[in-house]
Amino acid sequence: MSKHIAIGVDIGGSGIKAAPVDMRNGQFTEDRYRIPTPQPATPEAIGKTVAKCIQRFEPSRKTPIGVAFPGVIQHGVVKTAANVDDAWVGTNLRELIRDYAGHDVHVLNDADAAGYGEYRFGAAHGQDGSVFLATLGTGVGTAMIVDGTLVPNLELGHLTIDGHDAEDYAAESARARHDLDWDTWIPHLQRYFSEIERLFWPDLIIVGGGVSKSSHMFLPRLTLRAPIVPAELLNGAGIVGAAAAACAEDSKEKARAKEHAKRADKEAKKSAKRAEKASGAR
Ligand code: BGC
Repeated sequence: MSKHIAIGVDIGGSGIKAAPVDMRNGQFTEDRYRIPTPQPATPEAIGKTVAKCIQRFEPSRKTPIGVAFPGVIQHGVVKTAANVDDAWVGTNLRELIRDYAGHDVHVLNDADAAGYGEYRFGAAHGQDGSVFLATLGTGVGTAMIVDGTLVPNLELGHLTIDGHDAEDYAAESARARHDLDWDTWIPHLQRYFSEIERLFWPDLIIVGGGVSKSSHMFLPRLTLRAPIVPAELLNGAGIVGAAAAACAEDSKEKARAKEHAKRADKEAKKSAKRAEKASGAR
């Protein structure tokens, strides 16, 4: 697999999607592969499915692979599972996938992946300052990128507003569940994004998730200080962002290893000099 390619995998409630992504332009280099999310969506069942998605593209040992998951991920471990099986909480996702796929992976929250994808190749490409992204889907995923750096696990979809978890009325699933028309749903979105602006003052707001395809129906009707625009990568953002984040992590690790080797070399030279001096003194 070419050195410019990384694989992204996006674990969702209804499907697990993967594709190899060219890191020079954010484009898929092969068709996206999708397998319906196994039910029940236990760690073992998902682990096996993700492994199948990865193996399909025959990555080399060095291919960076990123996996996005719909919950908080800290140091590879799933900490929350608002819309997935409770059995996930406490699971080391990174180790799980490594065991099934036989390949090291980088794991991150799904909205973080989408936000990073939009920053690298989509609606926030090259944007300075702070970018806030909200994905309106089964849940509300949020991400913040400040001068190109992702602030992970924001979970602002669960802000309590007017006594409710924001996700319960701002998610696309809430619109469908309560059978809300645009006129009824838009004020909920207005309330949500106004609160985000009041607290975080982003320079740009991006709206992702399936409903962003109909953004012309609601974005022009929101009154906010910052520009609010639809995601450009649509449902590919999670895959592209996971791949890009894995690549960035890979480069960081390489830089760390290089720095470590440099320091070890310096130390070795110093102690060789000390030994030389000591033997000369004898
Ligand atoms: C979860 C987030 C996730 C979002 C979108 C929320 O319920 O708490 O971690 O990013 O859904 O999947």
